[in-house]
Amino acid sequence: MDQQQKKLRVAAAAMEFLSDGMVLGVGTGSTVNALLDHIGQPENNWAKRLHGAVSSSEQSTRRLRELGVPLIDLNDIDQLDLYIDGADEANDRLELVKGGGGALTREKIIAATATRFVCIIDESKLVPRLGAFPLPVEVIPMARHQVAQRIAQWGGHPVHRAGFVTDNGNHILDVHGLAIDEPAELEGELNQIAGVVTVGLFARRPADLMLVGTDSGVRRLQRLA
Ligand code: 5RP
Repeated sequence: MDQQQKKLRVAAAAMEFLSDGMVLGVGTGSTVNALLDHIGQPENNWAKRLHGAVSSSEQSTRRLRELGVPLIDLNDIDQLDLYIDGADEANDRLELVKGGGGALTREKIIAATATRFVCIIDESKLVPRLGAFPLPVEVIPMARHQVAQRIAQWGGHPVHRAGFVTDNGNHILDVHGLAIDEPAELEGELNQIAGVVTVGLFARRPADLMLVGTDSGVRRLQRLA
């Protein structure tokens, strides 16, 4: 079974967490797109059964519109029942690296709001130590060089994602070569650099449940309190 088939498998498994009338937080990426394919199947009618969706990116917003799922502004709700999103890397503590698609800031805002965060990945994303995938950091454009210099002092190799502008009008540095032994600590430290908007580490607010698509089925990892 190839990676895409595992993404389809895990996306199908995530459908069991949907319930009638809920507000769903929708992440970004190909695994989430597979979830949206399921939501859009007319026989399930989920596009009408959901109260609506809070979207994490312009890309997902377009898809939700096509499917006829009502879009909800996060400012109009007090609470979000469920957030479903993929990841670029995950460990068994359900800490994540996200932002390969560049949507990390809105994703982090939604994850922080959601009562429950279910992360859906194929098994290639599950790693013993985070950091092989370059860590995305969204920065205010005028601060890009300064932030890159600061990060380089810590041994990382920041690379400007050339030609890419986030939905918020910012730039991305992809930081190579970081050994992420203490994800929550590093997330906090990088957040403190002036000009950093969002760090693609989701360790202070990790996932609550992770579904992992494998050759043999879907593995579940629960966050321990
Ligand atoms: C986007 C993300 C995605 O969740 C991450 O890149 C995974 O994408 P895919 O499901 O396509 O592998 O963080 O900013």
